Amino acid sequence: MALKIFTISILALVLTNFNLSTAYDGFPSKEEISKWVELLQNSLLLDLDKYTGIKKLEKTYDDLRRAKLHKIDGPSLVHKMSSDITKYLEKKMGALEKLAEAAEKTIETYKFDPNINFTVQKFLNMKNFTDDDSRLVYSEKFNKPVNFSYSGVHIPVEIYEESIEILNGLNWTSSLDEVFRENAEEDPLIMQQYFGSYSGFMRTYPASKWIVLPQKPGFPDLYDVRLQPWYVHASSSPKDMLILNGMHYMF
Ligand SMILES: *[C@@H]1O[C@H](CO)[C@@H](O)[C@H](O)[C@H]1NC(C)=O
Ligand SMILES: *[C@@H]1O[C@H](CO)[C@@H](O)[C@H](O)[C@H]1NC(C)=O
Ligand SMILES: *[C@@H]1O[C@H](CO)[C@@H](O)[C@H](O)[C@H]1NC(C)=O
Ligand SMILES: *[C@@H]1O[C@H](CO)[C@@H](O)[C@H](O)[C@H]1NC(C)=O
Repeated sequence: MALKIFTISILALVLTNFNLSTAYDGFPSKEEISKWVELLQNSLLLDLDKYTGIKKLEKTYDDLRRAKLHKIDGPSLVHKMSSDITKYLEKKMGALEKLAEAAEKTIETYKFDPNINFTVQKFLNMKNFTDDDSRLVYSEKFNKPVNFSYSGVHIPVEIYEESIEILNGLNWTSSLDEVFRENAEEDPLIMQQYFGSYSGFMRTYPASKWIVLPQKPGFPDLYDVRLQPWYVHASSSPKDMLILNGMHYMF
């Protein structure tokens, strides 16, 4: 039974370019998608400029005789951009595959310990961080204090943190931290990396203080990784999952 649970757990590996607050809301809203489209448009325009130098030429011509320049080499531009995007995706897919492989390898040899002892388990419960926690250091990239050495753990309120299922899950998934760190070092474009477990806990790398959304005084933490759309999608089909700026890919 333990093995079955673990096998299901690894289905929801997610690696995203979202910031945490977006990811917690699940898939992007219409507003977010239109923002994304706008971003893409802007970067298309930037690329146009980069590959054709159209602005510079335009200015030269404009200065000379107030002419406008429109012609671009469409096919080669599209080709270059598509190869850039493919490279970008391949890198992210590689990082995700590495996580899935590490998870599978660990689970093959992990022995479920029915007498596992809570006090000897080492993990960072994100809800235990204080506002000025000395274990967290401000990161410009993440725009918040984080700890790059470990992933942080979230356990839904209704789950007993010391249950043997959770503790065993935390124990074997601690091996993912090494891969999280490697992925982050190898590809600076990767933002948060997530692991969602069938038993309910979630690891996110790097570790940071857990923020309950919406940020209203006294609002309870209703978050449960198993209820997030990305988790549901990933676990209802036997695939790992990658979310990139609001688009999701299954492998
Ligand atoms: C758990 O480990 C702690 C520290 O090593 C020890 O004091 C305690 O007795 C252990 N508890 C059980 C139930 O084995
Ligand atoms: C996993 O459990 C073993 C045995 O209970 C313990 O010695 C080890 O420190 C644990 N690892 C982590 C990362 O908690
Ligand atoms: C988190 O804090 C609670 C309450 O202070 C404590 O019981 C628990 O052991 C802490 N968990 C970890 C992983 O530090
Ligand atoms: C990250 O957390 C670990 C475990 O609490 C701690 O030992 C380490 O010093 C922290 N890293 C930083 C940079 O504070």
